[in-house]
Amino acid sequence: MEKDFFVGPPGYFLISSQAPPCIQVTYDVAKFHSALFSEYAIPLPDTIKSSCKSRQADFLVGRYLARIALDELGCDETYVGIGDNGCPVWPENFTGSLSHADGIAVCIAQKNDHTASYIGIDCERKLSLDETGPVKEVAATRTDHLTCSAYPETSALFYSLMFSVKESFFKAAYPYVKRYFDFDAVSVFDIDPHNAYLQVNYDLHPRLMKGKTVTCSYRDMGDHVITHCLI
Ligand SMILES: CC(C)(COP(=O)(O)OP(=O)(O)OC[C@H]1O[C@@H](n2cnc3c(N)ncnc32)[C@H](O)[C@@H]1OP(=O)(O)O)[C@@H](O)C(=O)NCCC(=O)NCCS
Repeated sequence: MEKDFFVGPPGYFLISSQAPPCIQVTYDVAKFHSALFSEYAIPLPDTIKSSCKSRQADFLVGRYLARIALDELGCDETYVGIGDNGCPVWPENFTGSLSHADGIAVCIAQKNDHTASYIGIDCERKLSLDETGPVKEVAATRTDHLTCSAYPETSALFYSLMFSVKESFFKAAYPYVKRYFDFDAVSVFDIDPHNAYLQVNYDLHPRLMKGKTVTCSYRDMGDHVITHCLI
């Protein structure tokens, strides 16, 4: 199988003026074959080897993007390992984040020069109004609903962004908190055309105490949204 038919060419975009460019590709799970791991020279961990085809494809495309991102940053070590609870392990002095959704994968990485920080990025297909029920029920707080009621765009877009921004927050916060925490841990208390503003609802970590606010940037990509969080 020709690997270039599995994944399209990388595209670059800025999600925030403070963040490095995001890399995005489209890929076709139907064209995935496990031999692509050796063609791309990407190690296949045992936990992924025993996973279903779509998970293997997601993992491969994520590591492929991570390698491009790290290479462009001048990092010699370009493999990203798997840590506790699936948290990616980036090479020393580098950090980044990955997301895959419905044949779209995104990655962002940066060098931590002076201070350590962690990034979360998330890509979600936009929900239709009919699909927002489970997200409202599982992931929205009272504050999220109130913010939605003042949001000038559709509530379907708001709940798509709210869910994605909480996933981005989780990815950036996990290396500090080091355990799973639920969607009620943060609420979107404001939103504008570029940013969603989160408040922490209970103490998660000395750096993420109740009342702390975190600005997350986002982009509406048409059929999907991409969100970014740096902590
Ligand atoms: C872990 C989770 C955030 C991943 O999000 P997702 O939308 O399912 O999947 P995505 O494709 O966007 O992201 C997957 C990537 O997230 C990263 N990831 C997985 N677990 C992670 C963790 N514990 N910490 C940080 N990043 C993690 C990995 O890079 C993974 O890709 P990989 O396995 O190929 O390396 C999600 O599955 C989850 O468990 N959510 C529940 C916890 C939560 O969000 N709480 C709400 C807090 S406000």
